Amino acid sequence: MADRLVSQIENIIRKASGIEHGPIVLHEPFFNGNERQYVVDCIDTNWVSTVGKFVNLFEQLLSRVTGVKHSIATVNGTAALHICLILAGVQRDEEVLSQALTFVAAPNAISYCGAIPHFVDVSPVSLGVCPDRLREYLKKIGEAKADGLFNRQTGRRIRALLVMHTFGHPSHLDELKEVCDEFGIALIEDAAEAIGSEYGKRHVGHHGLLSALSFNGNKILTTGGGGAILTNDDQLAERARHLTTTGKVSHQWEYYHDCVAYNYRMPNVNAALGCAQLEQLSEILTKKRLLASRYSREFSKVEDITFFNEMAGVKSNYWLNAIMLKQVSREQRNHLLDALNDDGIMVRPAWNLANTLPMYKNCPSDDLSVSRRIEESLINVPSSPSF
Ligand SMILES: Cc1ncc(COP(=O)(O)O)c(C=O)c1O
Repeated sequence: MADRLVSQIENIIRKASGIEHGPIVLHEPFFNGNERQYVVDCIDTNWVSTVGKFVNLFEQLLSRVTGVKHSIATVNGTAALHICLILAGVQRDEEVLSQALTFVAAPNAISYCGAIPHFVDVSPVSLGVCPDRLREYLKKIGEAKADGLFNRQTGRRIRALLVMHTFGHPSHLDELKEVCDEFGIALIEDAAEAIGSEYGKRHVGHHGLLSALSFNGNKILTTGGGGAILTNDDQLAERARHLTTTGKVSHQWEYYHDCVAYNYRMPNVNAALGCAQLEQLSEILTKKRLLASRYSREFSKVEDITFFNEMAGVKSNYWLNAIMLKQVSREQRNHLLDALNDDGIMVRPAWNLANTLPMYKNCPSDDLSVSRRIEESLINVPSSPSF
């Protein structure tokens, strides 16, 4: 049975990707525009570092694409998350709620602030934090005081919720914002995987006080390494720009820095790649959504598998397509991962849940049964825009 399933999956991936023989990677960059020309421009003009016309242009284009007023380009998505958390007021010994089904960058960024990740479960419909479960949980463990929400079990202040748009699928943003407002905590969106994804009629990144994007080489748009902070708040945007550029006070020749800050600004050469990539976003999104619909159609014919489709009311970028085994079994999942990778088809599981990693295993946590079930049954299949 397992071997029949391996060949069924392999056939679907080969058919959907149009690659009949040889290896198929998980996700390749799509460089089909002005990338070379813009990068050569940086070299020819010597503007390769953290100042240059492409950084400003990249930020303008990002704001145009997302509709979020301010975009601040950073060296990577993790740095963007770090600054988002600082600007949301996260302080040492506070707690930040985060899904456990996430990339390690999220709990790491929380830890950089000296804060403690506090894990909550996800919705099986969005793969992001479940708003109903979150409300129930906060009613149980939260204590509202004059100076904020406190965890009555640990005595620590709960400052924020960091929600993620998993594999590009938008989370339940309206409902999560409602819960955050009800309990007086900040909402931050980890939109690292979600450039081009929409919630309702808007790009993701509007509900959060601040949001983070990533342009790592495996994302649907890449700058090599890179990220961005999005915010509609003028003052936060100014602070973000200042904190990511070593806290340097702008001056023609003086080097004066007014706070402990970070060297997190995206270099011009990376932004050059980013500008060329953003010019192709709508073409890439069309290709990604067509690939997802081919996968969805073919996997619907396989009895033992569910293809993960976007929920109603959103438009996903389908960064990484995901299938789930109907009968949850880690053994079967691992067998499929081994067999397909042995055949040259790069497939991967979701991340090991963050609460199981050695550095986060003692963090506070709600029941995570949905996250566990997803982790044990989910497989990401090759999703390059070039297919
Ligand atoms: C959900 C999520 N958050 C944060 C990051 C961190 O981004 P970066 O690798 O650019 O630091 C990534 C990916 O890399 C991610 O997938």
